[in-house]
Amino acid sequence: MTAPDAAETELHSFVVVSNRLPVDRVVEPDGSAYWSHSPGGLVTALEPVMRRNDGAWVGWAGLPDLDIEPFDSDGIHIVPVPLSVEEVRDYYEGFSNDTLWPLYHDVISHPQYHREWWDAYVRVNQRFADAAAAASAQDAVVWVQDYQLQLVPKMLRETRPDLTIGFFNHIPFPPYGIYSQLPWRTQIIEGLLGADVIGFQRLADANNFSRAVRRLKGFPTRGTTIDVPLIDESQGVRAHGPIKGGKPFRTVIARQFPISIDASDFEELARRPEIQERAREIREELGNPKTVILGVDRLDYTKGIGHRLKAFGELVAEGKVPVEEVTLVQVASPSRERVDAYRQLRDEIELMVGRINGDHGTIGHAPISYHHTSYPREEMIALYLAADVMLVTALRDGMNLVAKEYAATRFDEDGVLVLSEFAGASDELKRALLINPHDIDGLKDSIMRAVQMPRSERRTRMRAMRRRVFDNDVAKWSSAFLEVLTANGRKASS
Ligand code: G6P
Repeated sequence: MTAPDAAETELHSFVVVSNRLPVDRVVEPDGSAYWSHSPGGLVTALEPVMRRNDGAWVGWAGLPDLDIEPFDSDGIHIVPVPLSVEEVRDYYEGFSNDTLWPLYHDVISHPQYHREWWDAYVRVNQRFADAAAAASAQDAVVWVQDYQLQLVPKMLRETRPDLTIGFFNHIPFPPYGIYSQLPWRTQIIEGLLGADVIGFQRLADANNFSRAVRRLKGFPTRGTTIDVPLIDESQGVRAHGPIKGGKPFRTVIARQFPISIDASDFEELARRPEIQERAREIREELGNPKTVILGVDRLDYTKGIGHRLKAFGELVAEGKVPVEEVTLVQVASPSRERVDAYRQLRDEIELMVGRINGDHGTIGHAPISYHHTSYPREEMIALYLAADVMLVTALRDGMNLVAKEYAATRFDEDGVLVLSEFAGASDELKRALLINPHDIDGLKDSIMRAVQMPRSERRTRMRAMRRRVFDNDVAKWSSAFLEVLTANGRKASS
């Protein structure tokens, strides 16, 4: 199949495919509905590329049983992919978030393996691939995002060998000893190898992937490149057309491209007087403590929120952080609330918060100010500005953009970042206080060191981190990926 008839469908030379669209469909209890724009880093990074290249975005609108025609939003052509109630349960909540998510995050929670979930994953991946193929012009560049869609690259290549296909994995790729648990481990590897370039957050992820390719497929890998034979039907990869230049294989590049944020956008907002005023107000509302410590996470078991609360609770109990002087603000944004592991986590965290506040709070001061909600970006930036210490204690995290957002916001070169070495961001933000969240005593020591750190040391550390975040922002990330992708895609088709 080549590009479909232009008269039937609008065709695009650049197509992004992700589970979620950059807009969410919201339906109010009274039945009225609207689109909510959620301009995450990815959208900001890709918007200019989208505009330049007449781009389309293929994805799910976030609610079951919606069948919506493609439409334009802020210069991006939006192609909604519908999911039924059962598919949301089996493909999204099930295989994506109760099988792959825990498996790829070092089995912190037990992955569930169900054949019906896998069947739904295959079916839905095929639907995304078909929608992307139908939106793509001849020789278009298609960029597939994240673990929910790992079969899409191969499915696309099978019907549209003219396309240049990129894939980026936003979460970790686990070591083979863990990955090999997956009953469908070979199919996933074959799915990904349909891409010309497979991007990961860290070098370690790219290495884990290459090892899985060697173990499961036996294909030769050299550094970041993998030679995928074109002619071996039994290996699940089909030849498409004559083999060019006598090469009986396609070269796939697996490499790290650490994602980032639109750093200057954060700084611009942080410099606004009304946001600085809001930061002062937040401290005041907390009773003007000497030190404000902050945690901001999706309420997810990978984030190490319990470890952080344990360390902080012990410091409070030992009188090392007096409740009148130190407050921990924890923002936990609701996430995947119909998945059991997430429900249990919420109960555990809220029990811990209640215990610590109940045991150590006074009438005027609670040690923890806990918020189960998501705030708009402006409020988040005010919180970052108000926080003397930022705690990122993930047990495993692909990157962790909160760490980068904190650094980008602190144009005053103040504030201390305590950062888990298990978050991808620790490869770059080496001047944070790096911690192992499993080592509660070590974590407590680092929190105390952060609370007591002299201004000059805070300044040197923050300055170095800010330089890194501004030098490698999300525009750099997308252009680096697309450069490698278009170069490798061209090589493959010349
Ligand atoms: C992580 C994943 C994204 C996902 C996001 C929110 O960052 O890498 O693919 O969109 O979490 O999760 P949700 O399940 O709400 O889309």
